[in-house]
Amino acid sequence: MITLDHLQKGFGGRQVLKGVDLQVKRGETLVIIGGSGSGKSVLMKHVIGLLFADSGQVRIDGDDLAQLKEPELTRTRRRFGMVFQNAALFDSMNVWQNVGFALMQHTKKRKKAVLEIAQHYLEMVGLPDVLYRMPSELSGGMRKRVGLARAIATSPEILLYDEPTTGLDPVTSDVINRLIRSLQEQLGITSLMITHDMVSAYHVADRMAMLYQGKIIETGTPEQIRATDNPYVRQFISGSSDGPIEAG
Ligand SMILES: Nc1ncnc2c1ncn2[C@@H]1O[C@H](COP(=O)(O)OP(=O)(O)OP(=O)(O)O)[C@@H](O)[C@H]1O
Ligand SMILES: [Mg+2]
Repeated sequence: MITLDHLQKGFGGRQVLKGVDLQVKRGETLVIIGGSGSGKSVLMKHVIGLLFADSGQVRIDGDDLAQLKEPELTRTRRRFGMVFQNAALFDSMNVWQNVGFALMQHTKKRKKAVLEIAQHYLEMVGLPDVLYRMPSELSGGMRKRVGLARAIATSPEILLYDEPTTGLDPVTSDVINRLIRSLQEQLGITSLMITHDMVSAYHVADRMAMLYQGKIIETGTPEQIRATDNPYVRQFISGSSDGPIEAG
């Protein structure tokens, strides 16, 4: 469903992605792991067409994103829900307006219906009582969950999660992991998730891929990743500072 073909991207002469090849199959959850600054968020922004590659391709169901004209690109983007690393809520709107934003913009649903949908998804992420709060009145973890509710409120076909559990307490993280799993199992949603939370990665992944120095150096099922003899992957998943990975 999603194919990245030798994706390269640099900023100001510094190469971040040096030829990323990756496929996400329909209905699966693929988790990308990798160090801070390795280019995970940059990679994800290419998938939804917020950034465009210097060379290589991103194809969604065979369509090269870079070749799509504006209306088609917009239509393709609407098939996605995205949970941004920093939540990226609209600060001037309250919580239900954030969660219902796309529904108000792109459907004919009335305010009352959107409010009910917003409430439903906020309950799913464990926030039943925050409809009328402003983002500035929420904790970081609460903002993150509002961002997740917003991403799933439009019932997208594909969900992109950038660090959905980072900074959440372990119990809330588990609620979110289960929610991600159930969205996949019950609705067949295709998901691409970035995380360095290995508990979460093992919980939700059908397959995992590790990004290191601009390339995918290993892909496999959680069992295969656990058993790998690739020294970079081994060091990363064991969270050790001893090994071949250069910090930073
Ligand atoms: N719009 C941009 N302009 C210039 N440089 C950028 C831009 N976006 C990202 N970068 C650079 O690309 C590199 C990778 O950034 P990215 O945000 O993808 O890292 P990451 O793997 O998501 O890290 P983290 O785990 O800390 O979120 C960083 O060196 C960053 O400074
Ligand atoms: Mg990131």
